[in-house]
Amino acid sequence: MSAPNKSYDPVQVTTLNAEEVDRARDAALASIAAAADLETLKRVRLDHAGDRSPLALANREIGALPPAARAEAGKRVGSARRAVSDALAARQGELEQARDEQVLVEEAVDVTLPWDRSPRGARHPLTTIQERVADLFVAMGYEVVEGPEVEAEWFNFDALNLGPDHPARSMQDTFWVGSPDAGLVLRTQTSPVQIRTMMRRDPPIYVIAPGRVFRTDELDATHTPVFSQVEGLVVDEGITMAHLRGTLTHFATEMFGADVVTRMRPSYFPFTEPSAEMDLRCWVCHGESVGNPERPCRTCSSEGWIEWGGCGMVNPRVLTACGVDPERYSGFAFGMGLERTLMSRYGAEDMRDMVEGDVRFALPFGMEL
Ligand code: DAH
Repeated sequence: MSAPNKSYDPVQVTTLNAEEVDRARDAALASIAAAADLETLKRVRLDHAGDRSPLALANREIGALPPAARAEAGKRVGSARRAVSDALAARQGELEQARDEQVLVEEAVDVTLPWDRSPRGARHPLTTIQERVADLFVAMGYEVVEGPEVEAEWFNFDALNLGPDHPARSMQDTFWVGSPDAGLVLRTQTSPVQIRTMMRRDPPIYVIAPGRVFRTDELDATHTPVFSQVEGLVVDEGITMAHLRGTLTHFATEMFGADVVTRMRPSYFPFTEPSAEMDLRCWVCHGESVGNPERPCRTCSSEGWIEWGGCGMVNPRVLTACGVDPERYSGFAFGMGLERTLMSRYGAEDMRDMVEGDVRFALPFGMEL
C-alpha cells in the first residue's frame, strides 16, 4: 500500500482512476460471463474478487487518498466490486443449475432397461423329477431313504444274491474304488439300499430310494456312466405281484399321463423271483418304426418299446439274508431309470444333454428353484 497521500495526486494512484476501475470491472465481468463451468468460475473469482485482484488492491488504496477524494473513489470501487460479486453470484447460480440438470440426465436410472441380465440358475431337471417322484410315493405313504454312492461290494452284489461268480455281475460293469480287493464300488444300482433298509427296520416297509448310480459305459445318446435310478421296496404281509403292477401303473400314469402305454415282460434278476421288466411305448415313434424299415427309430432301435426299469417279487433268499421271515412276509421291488423317465416325459432324445449341464437344456423344463 502506498504511503498516506496528503497532497492528493491522482496520477500516483492509477488503480483508482475511473478508467482503471471500469477496465478491471469489465475484465472481471467478461471472464465471469465466459466461465463455462464451476471450476473455471472458481479461478475467475480468485483472479477478480480475491485478495490480490485489481479491485481489491484498488480498494485498499482508498485509505491512502486524501479524505476529500475517498468518498468518490470508494463509491466507484464499491460499485465495481458489487457488480463483480453480483455477476459471480448469478453465474454461480446458473452453472450450478446446469450441473444439476446434467447430473439428472447422466445419472438417470432407465427403469425400462432389462434387469435380468445375469439370469438366475435353477436346479437340474433330474433333481426336480426326482422330487416329483418322491412326492408321488410319499402321497402313497412311502418314505424316502438313502444309501451311500461309494458302497460295499457286499451290499451292491452279495447280499442281492449276486455271488462272486454270478454271471449277472459282469452285466453291470463296475467302477472299483481302489483295488478290487478293497471290496468298495461306486454303486452300480440303487438296489443295495433295499438291503440296508431291511437290515435296519422291520416290516411293514414302504420306501423309495432315488439316487445316482455308476457303470463303466461310454457316454453316447443312450448311455451315460453316471445315471439315476429310483428304487422301490415294499415288504408286508400278503404282498403280491398285482400290488407291484398296480403301483408301477400308477407311477407311470402320474409321470407320463393317462394315455401312457406300458408292458411288463418276464426277465431275470437274482434278487427278485419272479422278475420282470417294465417297458414304455417309444415316445418318439410310438411303435410305428416296428417292421417299417423306411422309418427307423433311433430312440428305441425300431423296437417300439423302451426299457423303463426292472422289478419283481423280492427273492425269499434276500429276505432271509436280511432277517425277514419269508413265511410271513413277501415283498416287491423295482428300480426305474430316472433319465429314461425324464426323456419319456419330455420327449428328450439324447442322454448327453442331461449330463452336459448346458442351461439351454434345462430352460424348457421350467426354472424351478
Ligand atoms: N437294480 C436293477 C438294475 O439296475 C434294477 C432292478 C431290477 C431293481 C429289479 C429292482 C428289481 O429293485 O426288483 O438293473
